[in-house]
Amino acid sequence: MTNKIRKAVFPAAGLGTRFLPATKSSPKEMLPLVDKPLIQYAVEEAVESGIESILIITGRDKSAIENHFDISFELEQLLQARGKTAQFEQVRAISDIAQISYTRQKQALGLGHAIYQAKAFVGEEPFAVLLADDIVDGDDPALSQMVNVFEKYNAPVIATMQVEGEAISRFGVIDAEEVESNVYKIRDMVEKPAFEDAPSDLAIIGRYIFTPDIFPAIEKTEKGAGGEIQITDAMRQLLKDREFYALKLEGTRHDAGDKLGFLIATVELALKRDDLGAAFREYLKSLKL
Ligand code: UTP
Repeated sequence: MTNKIRKAVFPAAGLGTRFLPATKSSPKEMLPLVDKPLIQYAVEEAVESGIESILIITGRDKSAIENHFDISFELEQLLQARGKTAQFEQVRAISDIAQISYTRQKQALGLGHAIYQAKAFVGEEPFAVLLADDIVDGDDPALSQMVNVFEKYNAPVIATMQVEGEAISRFGVIDAEEVESNVYKIRDMVEKPAFEDAPSDLAIIGRYIFTPDIFPAIEKTEKGAGGEIQITDAMRQLLKDREFYALKLEGTRHDAGDKLGFLIATVELALKRDDLGAAFREYLKSLKL
């Protein structure tokens, strides 16, 4: 079994109910932060972290994702004819970014079920899972931080962040022992605990490195909350048999699948842009809030 993380899976078949009506007929992964769809941020992060091959799990109405990573012949011709070289190169680079394939999750039966659709693609290798609506903004790509932990401990790694106070109840939370700075060996995990019951302040976010034994664990997982096959339940199955690690990521995580989180991410990323940041900052300052 190769130990290199070469493959990544992007579940993108959720219904995006928190972002209706925008997600009624277009995928939430195509919502743009400033000028780039969420899924492109995550694909770029994966490629910067050494990923060579990507599988996107799509649902209905997801053709916009496929088109985005395909060659746009008409657009490229037009940009070339008008001498817009920079834009041409930008558009072409998107279709050259990685080897991307697609498979359908026929029903949105949960994240665990979505990841299971990647079984044949993954084969016998460790692999990454990235949820594109979690944007991690930091110096080092989030997945590459996790790959370092995987290579050291040779066991699955999940991404976490510290969440203060009652907000922890909205997340999966780990019970774990710190084994080195920001790296934890997981004892257990619970989905959306009451604040008083939360075993730590470390919340699970949308980046995972799994080994192929996650697939039999998903098979054994019964439907849980919301009638869905939850990946947290499958991970708990697997925890009985093997070590599992968590990394507290460096960087700021934005939940761009949530309306407020999306607005915050938009402002933060826009302020960092060379071409827009200064003017946008002036505008924000002018608001009489
Ligand atoms: P979310 O919990 O964000 O669910 O899924 P959602 O359906 O996308 O959005 P809301 O909560 O209704 O607004 C986490 C990730 O798992 C994927 C989603 O696309 C998202 O990337 N997912 C979820 C699937 O691919 N299939 C599913 O059946 C469920």
